[in-house]
Amino acid sequence: MTEPVTWHLEGRVGLIAIDNPPVNAASHAVRVGLVRAVDALEGVAEVIAIHGVGRSFVAGADIREFGQPPKAPWLPAVCARIEACTTPVVAVLHGAALGGGLEIAMAAHARVAVPGVKLGLPEVTLGILPGAGGTQRTPRLIGIARALEMIVSGRPIDAARALEIGLVDRVMDGAPPDIARQAASEILNGTLSPRVTGHLSVAPDAEALDTARADIARRLPHLFAPARCVEAVAAATTPLQEGLKTERALFDTCVESPQRAGLVHAFFAERAVSKIPEADALAAPVGKVGIVGGGTMGQGIAGACLIAGLDVIVVEPDADARNAAAGALDTLLQGAAKRGKLADIACARRNLRLATSLSELSARDVVIEAVPEDLSLKLRVFAEMDSVCRPDAILASNTSYLDLNEIAGAVSHPERVLGLHFFAPAHVMRLLEVVVADETAPATVATGFALAKRLRKVAVRAGVCDGFIGNRILSATRRAADEAVLRGASPAEVDAALETFGFAMGPYAAQDLSGLDVGAAGRAVRGEAAPVADALIARGDLGHKTGAGFYEHRGQKPVPNAALTEILAKARTDAGVKQNPPDAQEIIARYTTAMIREGCQVVEDGIALRAIDVDAVMLFGYGFPRHLGGPMHMADRTGLATVISRIERFGAGGAAHWTVPRILRDHAKRGANLIA
Ligand code: 3HC
Ligand code: NAI
Repeated sequence: MTEPVTWHLEGRVGLIAIDNPPVNAASHAVRVGLVRAVDALEGVAEVIAIHGVGRSFVAGADIREFGQPPKAPWLPAVCARIEACTTPVVAVLHGAALGGGLEIAMAAHARVAVPGVKLGLPEVTLGILPGAGGTQRTPRLIGIARALEMIVSGRPIDAARALEIGLVDRVMDGAPPDIARQAASEILNGTLSPRVTGHLSVAPDAEALDTARADIARRLPHLFAPARCVEAVAAATTPLQEGLKTERALFDTCVESPQRAGLVHAFFAERAVSKIPEADALAAPVGKVGIVGGGTMGQGIAGACLIAGLDVIVVEPDADARNAAAGALDTLLQGAAKRGKLADIACARRNLRLATSLSELSARDVVIEAVPEDLSLKLRVFAEMDSVCRPDAILASNTSYLDLNEIAGAVSHPERVLGLHFFAPAHVMRLLEVVVADETAPATVATGFALAKRLRKVAVRAGVCDGFIGNRILSATRRAADEAVLRGASPAEVDAALETFGFAMGPYAAQDLSGLDVGAAGRAVRGEAAPVADALIARGDLGHKTGAGFYEHRGQKPVPNAALTEILAKARTDAGVKQNPPDAQEIIARYTTAMIREGCQVVEDGIALRAIDVDAVMLFGYGFPRHLGGPMHMADRTGLATVISRIERFGAGGAAHWTVPRILRDHAKRGANLIA
């Protein structure tokens, strides 16, 4: 194995190169190498320059090592060694200088950024805080207020901003080794002055600290790490060694927190889902997209494609709907430009065309159907797409529940049909279920994943079934919520319990937002009933769009629909369920256990590839609280035996939807986790 850190002397300059693909994480071998390199060059070279090889400087500590016994030298010791080096050290930052990577750079005596580099301290997004001096050295370089902004938000900044606020000393363009030589010569000729960050003093800023504390208490009261970040930064006004001790103590509490495990799991879940059986198939290039239907989803999908720089034609035969789509898309693009998500709005506008006929789609690489959820209509549209599109064009459906195999049967080459199930609003939501039908070719799947990457979506491979992964689990959780209501909890109590758990919105508030008729359409296909929702629909109470659903939305704040008293009393009597109103804990247990149960069933049925894919779907498409990692991660942490006993308790009446999935029993028996 080649050494991840190498060094050599070029005249008076010692060059240290970090080469640990793919992102130069500061794994144990890198830490060892850095200390050896500094030991070897100190006093031998007159200046030392450290740079990364490949796509980044250093993307941070090696996240895979979290939770394992730490191996010396730890990153804080590496940073201390660099800072204490009697020969000036300059760091050259390109690609990513994140977390521990930026901490290494701040321990150096000067920093040069290469345009395009992302500099940041994203530890908080992993449930920890910068633990290698970042909370102490950042305020020394840029002040407490700006340090708080970087550390508490975890958001990276670019080279220009880093120069402006004093996080780096220079911005230089070129290849990192060349910049390393140039920066070293500037130190030698006195045009770049090295400084020891730890020797700089920090101006107290009680106001910035108090503002950050209040902001966290208001916005993120359920998160463990952000408040610790603030307390660590507050210690930066003490001498460096004292502040580092405070940082370490707070860091350790974060590492031990279950939230750290959940957030790190979420980080890996986002990446694990791209490992699919079709990964080696050749994806077709996608530059031109066609979208059939300019309604809610067609607009969002078109927006996502335009933001990604693709050429888009939206076919919408209805003149009013077409005008509405044109207006909504322009608003969407303006919003994206305002939020910094779209650099060139004029180009995006040029890339969009609205059309009336499918014949306009003859040169498209991919065509995505987003017409209403009606099988006969979709079959007609696919048959027409088959006749007008290029024979090698990928034909996708955005169907939520329908049988993709039937849809694929409408075309002459079913191997190029797949489901691309976007979530509303499609230009915002990160999840994309890539649904693979019986005949879908590997290259078609690979193209779906490549398109998702271009759109910056988290693509998850799903098999064909009613509701695929996400909506199938959603149906199961809604059933569990309805059961809690029939036992005596009010919809508002169910919502409140699940909002305390961490969902942004409870299931009944969510149904009011999407429209009660949308859920009813899915239930009709499955032949299911939901007596309370159905009674509200019969009154014309469909949610926000009619002013009332489970809640009345006419005043400033939603209040429970007054009609519910009677509807609930009747539904409970009809159901004949013994009244035993569940408390908040019981509501959460029922809801999450239903999610875990269906998640296991979805894996057992081969609809999801792995348990981690279920977590990714719930995290990126259904608002599962990220710090809890996902339902399957939660099951592992709760203990599978406990999950099984809950399922058995909830299913004591013999309900088919509360049977214990085989894979859950098997894993429990083997003492294995659901997440490998
Ligand atoms: N440790 C271990 N593996 C890492 C890693 C890290 N810090 N960062 C990325 N990887 C892995 C990914 O899991 C992925 O592995 P895979 O190919 O097996 O799936 C591979 O590197 C490539 O990553 P991406 O697919 O994310 O590549 P991108 O080019 O899209 O993004 C990146 C690159 C911006 C660097 C992104 O990977 C990233 O944000 N990484 C995490 C950065 C981070 O959070 N750093 C802080 C770590 S905590 C820390 O430093 C603690 C310290 O204060 C003590
Ligand atoms: P919508 O009703 O808002 O839009 C559908 C559009 O298709 C309408 O503008 C209609 O005029 C147009 N249309 C009808 N027939 C057409 C034809 N032959 N050719 C071209 N256009 C035609 O529906 P929405 O909500 O956008 O849903 C579309 C699909 O996306 C459905 O399959 C739905 O299940 C799915 N979906 C919807 C989600 C949502 O939250 N609305 C989420 C995920 C998927």
